[in-house]
Amino acid sequence: MPEARHEEDRVSAVLRRRVRCGDPHLGGCGALSADALIARFEEERSRALGRFGRKQAGLYYTPPTVAAEVLAIALRTSGVEDGRVLDPCAGAGAFLVAAARAGLRDLHGFDLDPGALRVARQALRLCGATARLRRADALRVVPRQPVDLIVSNPPYGHVSVAAERAFLLRAFPALRGGEIDRYAAFLLRALQLVRPGGAAALLVPDTWMFLSRSGALRQEVIAQAEVAALVDLGKPFASAKDTRVQAVVLVRRPALARATYVATRGKPLATVSRGELVATSARGWFVYRSAAERDLCRAMEASSVPLGSACEVGYGMRTGNNPRHVGRREPRGREIGLIGGEDIVPYALRWRPKTLLHPSPLARLVERQLGSERVAVQRIRTNALVPWARWLEAAVVGRDRVCLDSLSTLSCGNPERLWALLAWIQAVPLQRYHRLRTTDVNVKPGALRELPVPRALLDDPSRLAELARERAAADAPASAHALDRRIDACVYSLFGLTGRLVDAS
Ligand SMILES: C[S@@+](CC[C@H](N)C(=O)[O-])C[C@H]1O[C@@H](n2cnc3c(N)ncnc32)[C@H](O)[C@@H]1O
Repeated sequence: MPEARHEEDRVSAVLRRRVRCGDPHLGGCGALSADALIARFEEERSRALGRFGRKQAGLYYTPPTVAAEVLAIALRTSGVEDGRVLDPCAGAGAFLVAAARAGLRDLHGFDLDPGALRVARQALRLCGATARLRRADALRVVPRQPVDLIVSNPPYGHVSVAAERAFLLRAFPALRGGEIDRYAAFLLRALQLVRPGGAAALLVPDTWMFLSRSGALRQEVIAQAEVAALVDLGKPFASAKDTRVQAVVLVRRPALARATYVATRGKPLATVSRGELVATSARGWFVYRSAAERDLCRAMEASSVPLGSACEVGYGMRTGNNPRHVGRREPRGREIGLIGGEDIVPYALRWRPKTLLHPSPLARLVERQLGSERVAVQRIRTNALVPWARWLEAAVVGRDRVCLDSLSTLSCGNPERLWALLAWIQAVPLQRYHRLRTTDVNVKPGALRELPVPRALLDDPSRLAELARERAAADAPASAHALDRRIDACVYSLFGLTGRLVDAS
């Protein structure tokens, strides 16, 4: 909007002069753009909260470019172009400033934090805009009237206060199922605050699409809204490097039925029909895929059974008190050695000795693992985008060791199948499938159980098991690499995948 920008520059110039003259309404701020003002507030708040406090409160303020992008996606995909705009968690005003810059003028905001609202007011003034800002709890406030458009970055993190959990479960029964994510409550609340046909565009973690415990939430969202857009925005928060977020745009029903616009990093992917979202709302929405990637996943599923039906998939042992139970030394006598995430490299253990101390209260959990070989799996943190990047690392753990809960474990009574599963999980086709399915940072057994195991592998695991054993024994990187390629080829053929399908994706 050139006019708006022009106006902003003019207002900024006036304000610059006023600040030089010490205007008390500006709180003595030297930095003058709305963005700089918001950024300074963000810095001060994070310093005051500290890293832990901030994570607890789930407060990550939105960079201006990201707020502008979410708003642009909402305006483009929702069919709502103007009217009454609300940010129910306005904070220092990043989204309302973006809305003002986009030419929207009927702006409203709630927040619990009066300091943040003061900054939002100043930032909007610097853009030549005003908003009605109210200190209020957006989850409880009775609004004067429904709005046309909500744009917001609500707080994240789990709700730990019992009374707040009880309130949220009463208000939004679809949050049942375990931990309650704060942002999930705001997804549902936003749908109460917009008019039918109005849109809610929220910047939220994308885990609600994949988590099995979020099935009721997905069902409720799809019952109340058309999903206009799901856009992966990566990890935009400098202070929360592992938090992957998306712009989700919901249009409250009744509304025009539409296919969901899906994109990642500015690149459009395959759209998803409402029918597919309804059909898969219990299992999860795995939508960040191109048309060719969808074909690849479909072909892999067609020749497979879920891992959960081929072996037992479980968590490693949770001690509840690692400083007490995990001794950093070699086991002595009949003591038990422990394996954690740090000990796993592909196909092998690089063990940093750990011993189980004070085992009595954990006897039942230990018992479950001792006496049989398992494959231990860990998720590694990588931002690599190449299709062959490894997201999972796995190795066979001996019958006398116990895996800790940083690992998931696969076990079955059949050693050939177990070794074949090791090669299967380390192979590129499977890593690729896993990555196309979820962006979640953890390897939860629930997600592993859904991975496709070729029926041909279960019929005859011997070839892959043999390759896995060779690979585990390979010392030289060159031979390990050559074996990796042979294992990939073997797994592709067990899935019955054609070169055309693989190359296209
Ligand atoms: C993640 S910050 C986002 C702020 C701003 N919208 C942005 O994008 O930069 C979340 C904001 O929500 C506010 N907040 C948390 N719980 C709230 C509630 N129940 N009602 C209103 N505001 C709330 C916090 O004070 C904080 O300012």
